[in-house]
Amino acid sequence: MTLKTVLVTGGAGYIGTHTMVELLGQGYEVVCLDNFSNSSPEAIKRVEKIAGKKITTVTGDVRDREVMSRVFKRPIDGVIHFAALKAVGDSVKRPIDYYGNNVGGSIALLDAMHERGVHRIVFSSSATVYGVPEKLPIEESAPIRPINPYGQTKAMVEQMLLDWCMADATHTAISLRYFNPIGAHESGLIGEDPHDVPNNLFPFITQIAIGKQAQLTVWGDDWPTPDGTGVRDYLHVMDLARGHVNALEHAFGIGGHATVNLGTGNGTSVLQMIAAFEVASGKKITYQFGPRRAGDVAACWADPSLAQRLWQWQAKLSVERACADGWRWQQQNPNGYRD
Ligand code: NAD
Ligand code: UFG
Repeated sequence: MTLKTVLVTGGAGYIGTHTMVELLGQGYEVVCLDNFSNSSPEAIKRVEKIAGKKITTVTGDVRDREVMSRVFKRPIDGVIHFAALKAVGDSVKRPIDYYGNNVGGSIALLDAMHERGVHRIVFSSSATVYGVPEKLPIEESAPIRPINPYGQTKAMVEQMLLDWCMADATHTAISLRYFNPIGAHESGLIGEDPHDVPNNLFPFITQIAIGKQAQLTVWGDDWPTPDGTGVRDYLHVMDLARGHVNALEHAFGIGGHATVNLGTGNGTSVLQMIAAFEVASGKKITYQFGPRRAGDVAACWADPSLAQRLWQWQAKLSVERACADGWRWQQQNPNGYRD
């Protein structure tokens, strides 16, 4: 079957916008559903500008049956499901909102898909499902032991998708376990737009460079890593976007559930990231060391070989390139989409 129209839930968000650019570039029709709880309609206009194509946008919540029946009025061939709440710390403070949105939202989506006979879904999971890794690089067969409610919601939806696929051989679901997405589209028109003070390293650094934050606190200088700071697998968001289209295309028609890591396979420390960003931007990133952040792990990077074997996907863009692209986005949009 040819895949023509893709529903992207949460398409106005950071990863969704970049994925919609990739989908439109590959000739797909895109229907975007977003409640704009963590994004702005301007982001969709920017995607349309980059791609030179229109997106059908439905404003509403994935849990709203009336909205979902409007979405599925048109023929949909497959779904990429990004819509979720994603802040780890916030999930500890208001877990039920996270279970409601992330798990409840996925149930509502699968219900609506079932009613309309749509059988293919790519789901945004996260490397956070692995919890504290026992062994590096992390393979998909590693134990699933999330250590916060956000991670639990991702593990629950993965389990649900597995059961959904077991129940019907025509169902296909791919849970993509992302490592740390960073950077932006090379145009500088779309990028990550945190509404509050960023918790994540990369947007915090870009906000220091633009003068919105004064200095970075590096959480811990005594981790068992080469320079004592935390090590992560930072993946350019355009590589991640391409991974979604690959997953959708190659997995279609196969049936069953697969969990697949998307990462570079390389670790970068906080100090290495600061140095790379300083070179890319020509700006000094001032920092001080603070205590270890609760819930952090020393190091985490992917074994990405399954994605390579299944879809010939591998990360192509370097951390340096992600720094240059992320900086361009930040410079052109000091206040994100609010400018
Ligand atoms: P984001 O917050 O930028 O995008 C999520 C989008 O979903 C937003 O536009 C938001 O308005 C929308 N949304 C949320 N709840 C909704 C609902 N109930 N109905 C309709 N729309 C809703 O986040 P992102 O960084 O683009 O992440 C996308 C997905 O990838 C999420 O599922 C996230 O958990 C997952 N993920 C992100 C990262 C990361 O570091 N950014 C890492 C691993 C996994
Ligand atoms: N860090 C600092 N100072 C900061 C922010 C981060 O030193 O102000 C350090 C952290 O201690 C860690 C590294 O930078 O060593 C990366 O931290 P991030 O917060 O950017 O990313 P995490 O790996 O902690 O978590 C992210 C997402 C999770 C997701 C996980 C794996 O926030 O949702 O990647 O995909 F689950």
